[in-house]
Amino acid sequence: MFIRPSFLLVFLTRLATACLDHEDLVKSHIQTKINKTADPCTDFYAHVCPSNLPLNQTVGERLRQLYLQEAAKFHTKHDEFTKQIYTYVHNFRKVVNDLIEVCEITGDNKSLAIDFVNQTTRIAFNESSSCEAIGYTFGLSAFMLDPYELYGLLLDICFFGPRELEFSKSDLGHLLNKNEEKFMNSFKDEVRKKFLETPWLKNKNGTEVYLEFLENDFSLFKKTENIIHSWEKIFDDLENYSKSCKPNNTISSFVCAIEKLIALVRKKARPSFEFTMFEPSLNAGNLENEIKINRATQLLTLTDNMARLYGSYGFIVGHEVMHSFYSSGKDDNRLKDYWTDSSQCVGEQYTATCNEFGNEDCLPAGTDKTNEEDGSDLASIRVVYSDFQKNYLHNEKSDIDGITSEQMFFYAFASMWCTPRMFAFGNPVDVHSGPYIRVNALLAQMDEFKEAFQCAENSRMVKSKVEHCSIFRSGCAANQKE
Ligand SMILES: *[C@@H]1O[C@H](CO)[C@@H](O)[C@H](O)[C@H]1NC(C)=O
Ligand SMILES: *[C@@H]1O[C@H](CO)[C@@H](O)[C@H](O)[C@H]1NC(C)=O
Ligand SMILES: *[C@@H]1O[C@H](CO)[C@@H](O)[C@H](O)[C@H]1NC(C)=O
Ligand SMILES: *[C@@H]1O[C@H](CO)[C@@H](O)[C@H](O)[C@H]1NC(C)=O
Ligand SMILES: *[C@@H]1O[C@H](CO)[C@@H](O)[C@H](O)[C@H]1NC(C)=O
Ligand SMILES: *[C@@H]1O[C@H](CO)[C@@H](O)[C@H](O)[C@H]1NC(C)=O
Ligand SMILES: *[C@@H]1O[C@H](CO)[C@@H](O)[C@H](O)[C@H]1NC(C)=O
Ligand SMILES: *[C@@H]1O[C@H](CO)[C@@H](O)[C@H](O)[C@H]1NC(C)=O
Repeated sequence: MFIRPSFLLVFLTRLATACLDHEDLVKSHIQTKINKTADPCTDFYAHVCPSNLPLNQTVGERLRQLYLQEAAKFHTKHDEFTKQIYTYVHNFRKVVNDLIEVCEITGDNKSLAIDFVNQTTRIAFNESSSCEAIGYTFGLSAFMLDPYELYGLLLDICFFGPRELEFSKSDLGHLLNKNEEKFMNSFKDEVRKKFLETPWLKNKNGTEVYLEFLENDFSLFKKTENIIHSWEKIFDDLENYSKSCKPNNTISSFVCAIEKLIALVRKKARPSFEFTMFEPSLNAGNLENEIKINRATQLLTLTDNMARLYGSYGFIVGHEVMHSFYSSGKDDNRLKDYWTDSSQCVGEQYTATCNEFGNEDCLPAGTDKTNEEDGSDLASIRVVYSDFQKNYLHNEKSDIDGITSEQMFFYAFASMWCTPRMFAFGNPVDVHSGPYIRVNALLAQMDEFKEAFQCAENSRMVKSKVEHCSIFRSGCAANQKE
């Protein structure tokens, strides 16, 4: 559970940085990738994210590469096992043939084959699907997708699990966790202050209920020694088991090696949240009010510049935190009684941004489908900016010529989203607004953005603002929620 914050310490201590031999990726994006021809007040997304930026040069992808590079420095006793599985699954043609063959032989193998394809391609097959269709679909997906995306969670556990456990035990792993906790304590303190100021929370003792929820029902996922140890045992077990499957390199030996893992995932032998901690990508999550930040995201804390830290990492963490407090009324949420439809202003802002900047990202933006994500974004950026402004802005010196610290925050925020939607979450039922709309809708709402870039009232970024849509802070209407 959450460790009680020590406020004084948080304000006096900066996040520590490591002697990692790499550049500050957000800084280098701002220095080298900005489209200076595009006016920030006209279209901030277009200004920060040039349309010709290759995927492998986005901040998110470069962070993932950096993490993989760091993790590759560790050797584990499971390297051979990992390599064996890796080699096999990268030989798609063989996997397709083997899948078809094994699937046709017996019913039991067919279920395993289906399970494997279900888990990897996320396309559902059933017992009445033909083995050819299963094999063909797998092959097609394998051909089209990056293998890491294709195999998803299941093989992330195999490929990255053992090394991530070693990484967790390293100095860098400890440092990242420490930075994360420091940030979270500072942010939580700011959230607490915002709750105290929020007029609509004063109804029905909402302030007390929200504060208590923040203190007791909400936590930060940590890779404790217990968790690490449990996973070490799991990998020992998997490897032992897979030894009996060697040495032939057929689907049955592969399925034999992997079936234990599939069974483990299916049985959820560990809390389901833990399964995602091996993902190497820029990602973060909130599962039942527990926040998990992946390694690639944590690497953003290795900077001395607080504007960049708060704009990039801070916004992502804040978004996950705010999922607990901006809820569109799920039944199991204790806070649901405090919510009404008055989150309407969020939807209106996204619709207005779409009307102004409309592009293919707009489709679900501003609808009920994206409302919880949009509202969490809006709550996050306000609280994160306020935390940054009160605690760091006054004594921060910009380290990029021609860019102020206020501007730096917004640059850092937007530079995290220069990613095509389809790659942003790898998920066909994405409930997020597209990156373009996320960036421009949020910044239209921020008066601080307008001031930082001295945008004219009739500039597109400013005029696309609807009413002031504040969720938690003194500026909210008293009756925003009843
Ligand atoms: C840069 O911005 C200008 C002005 O909006 C635009 O015409 C041009 O296509 C942009 N270039 C890239 C690479 O995004
Ligand atoms: C990035 O991708 C392009 C093609 O999409 C490729 O030519 C280039 O070598 C890649 N760069 C890196 C650093 O991987
Ligand atoms: C799965 O297929 C293999 C042949 O590839 C066969 O030896 C094995 O008995 C089958 N397993 C089951 C459980 O039917
Ligand atoms: C594959 O997924 C579908 C839909 O999620 C499910 O109905 C089916 O039982 C799964 N098949 C296996 C063998 O797990
Ligand atoms: C089984 O999968 C096939 C496609 O492979 C689909 O057409 C059919 O509706 C599915 N049946 C059930 C019961 O889900
Ligand atoms: C609010 O709290 C006070 C004292 O803690 C209690 O007397 C009162 O009934 C509460 N009001 C509501 C609406 O729960
Ligand atoms: C794995 O196998 C080794 C040698 O056979 C054995 O000593 C060890 O206890 C096994 N580990 C597990 C987790 O089963
Ligand atoms: C390959 O390994 C599997 C699983 O251990 C076994 O069932 C199968 O008989 C082996 N096939 C050959 C050709 O050795």
